[in-house]
Amino acid sequence: MPTTRATAEESEQIREAEKAEGRSAVRTLLRLWPYVRPVRVRLSVAAFVAIVASCVGLVIPLVLKWMVDGPITDRDPAGVWLGALCLLLLGLAEALLFGLRRWLVARPLAGVEASMRADLYRHLQRLPIAFHDRWASGQLLSRGTTDLMLLRMFLAFPLTFLLVNAVTILVGVIIMLIQDWTLGLIILGPAVPVVVTCVAFEKKYATVARRAQDQVGDLTTVVEESVLGIRVIKGFGRHRSQAHAFRELSRTLRGTELRKARLLSAIWGVIVTLPELAIGAALVLGVVRVADGALSAGTLVAFLSTALALRWPVDSIGFLLAMSQEAATATERYFEVMDEEPESSTSRGTRVSVAKKGAVAGGLRFHDVTFRYPDAPPGTAPTLDRVDLHIRPGESMALVGATGSGKTTLTALVPRLHEATSGRITLDGHDICEMPRDSLRALVSVAFEEPTLFSATVGENVLMGALPDAGEPELDRALAIAQAEFAHALPQGTGTQVGEQGLSLSGGQRQRLALARAVVGRPRFLVLDDPLSALDVHTEAAVEAALRRVLAETTALIVAHRPSTVLLADRVALLSGGRVTAVGTHHELLRTNAEYAHLMSGTEGNEEDER
Ligand SMILES: Nc1ncnc2c1ncn2[C@@H]1O[C@H](COP(=O)(O)OP(=O)(O)O)[C@@H](O)[C@H]1O
Ligand SMILES: [Mg+2]
Repeated sequence: MPTTRATAEESEQIREAEKAEGRSAVRTLLRLWPYVRPVRVRLSVAAFVAIVASCVGLVIPLVLKWMVDGPITDRDPAGVWLGALCLLLLGLAEALLFGLRRWLVARPLAGVEASMRADLYRHLQRLPIAFHDRWASGQLLSRGTTDLMLLRMFLAFPLTFLLVNAVTILVGVIIMLIQDWTLGLIILGPAVPVVVTCVAFEKKYATVARRAQDQVGDLTTVVEESVLGIRVIKGFGRHRSQAHAFRELSRTLRGTELRKARLLSAIWGVIVTLPELAIGAALVLGVVRVADGALSAGTLVAFLSTALALRWPVDSIGFLLAMSQEAATATERYFEVMDEEPESSTSRGTRVSVAKKGAVAGGLRFHDVTFRYPDAPPGTAPTLDRVDLHIRPGESMALVGATGSGKTTLTALVPRLHEATSGRITLDGHDICEMPRDSLRALVSVAFEEPTLFSATVGENVLMGALPDAGEPELDRALAIAQAEFAHALPQGTGTQVGEQGLSLSGGQRQRLALARAVVGRPRFLVLDDPLSALDVHTEAAVEAALRRVLAETTALIVAHRPSTVLLADRVALLSGGRVTAVGTHHELLRTNAEYAHLMSGTEGNEEDER
């Protein structure tokens, strides 16, 4: 299992370790069976058709033999025409059968690819945040695109043709041995060195193929980040360094691809040259024997054209093996993600509960909650350390703390985006770990620091936070509360598409839409992570006025920086060093807690005086 944002090198080490456990390409590829099963009949029929087509091709040398020893020797033009017609028909049949095969496999294989991609996507949606923290998005993207394409190509060609070629070679060799067994044995001579080369090649190619595919993932990550972060890059004039990073990675990838090409050309060299030499030797010996009258000219023609017909099946083994190896790697990469445990609907996994039941309290309650990020280095202090906090029903609590004190982390625990390491969190007395995730997330609404909007209309973005049957009235109410009425003034009103991450809206506008999304479902519990940070003073005052109404109806936890936001809440909790060090009203804490007074004395102290 890959840990931390798996770079190519890291996952290569992991893979090396796995290989030591005896991983084989075949065993890996067998994991595709559940996806291939539904199309197995089509695939088998297609393979059978291809074998027939290939064998039809092998009949051609036999017709040639008949022509050379019969009509040509007897100077019989009618016989030659008949033979030519036979050859034409055989050629046509071969071509039609191969065409039929392509037609048979195209649709089902596109279906296999699509269903694997759909499964991957569904699984990604269900994987916990901790997984997404660990994995670079480019690695996931490349699995969903390049790797699946490699798999489809494998199912279309190597899977069938390794079989078809094997049968063709077998039948061809038998035909040649029947024609003349001495010449046949000469042709078989290179078999052993070719097989040995193939085995050695497989091993080497596996390593390089994996490296190349991981590097494609790294490259995808860089491209994705530079597209998303284009403003930062331009703003800081970093396009040069970004381009440099990209160039470095693509140079590495190029090196790996060249290595693949070198390996391929080496095996290709062996696979092509040795049989050619054997055919040459057979030709010389055959001609000598025809001259001696020990062999008919027709037999030699048939023998040589069979040998030549087998050239392609033999030559192509090199890249069929290469494609299979890449497909095995792609399968491995695909299942690395699929094997990750998705969020269970209720169970709390391995965490230890130390809370005692009994004292049931309403509202939102943290009981002795400790949290450590799964990838935190061992020995470091937990991000949240035995946090006890009680937000009474209907109460709103502001959460204040220095940057990095764990505020965002604490809010993420409530909708179970992360699982507390120990302790429990209860909503109206019910442990959140014992609720189905669906109900939990219907009960709790969240707005994050970074307001993400999807490529959809404003209305769709907001109504994401509501029940499926919610409509215009709920939307209007939420927009009013969040002071996001600007949405009505957009070109198509609330039907306006907002771009990727809402790039076409200002930060404050996005925050207000995110806020509208949080309140549209009238949640019983509201968790807001610094929802007003990007608003100007006037908008902020308006949003606060509206929020005050929402807060009156719910139980809320609001991360806040400014005194004006803090004042919306009934009480304040101070988070410091992962612990809640003080709880009280804003004014109490200002008087009694130096750290709190310091945090609040920053930018907008006078605003507080006004109130
Ligand atoms: N996904 C993560 N993995 C590991 N550590 C994290 C992760 N997210 C945040 N942290 C760490 O946890 C601490 C608290 O972060 P956070 O809750 O975001 O602070 P705040 O919101 O109070 O500024 C920080 O030291 C941060 O580096
Ligand atoms: Mg934060």
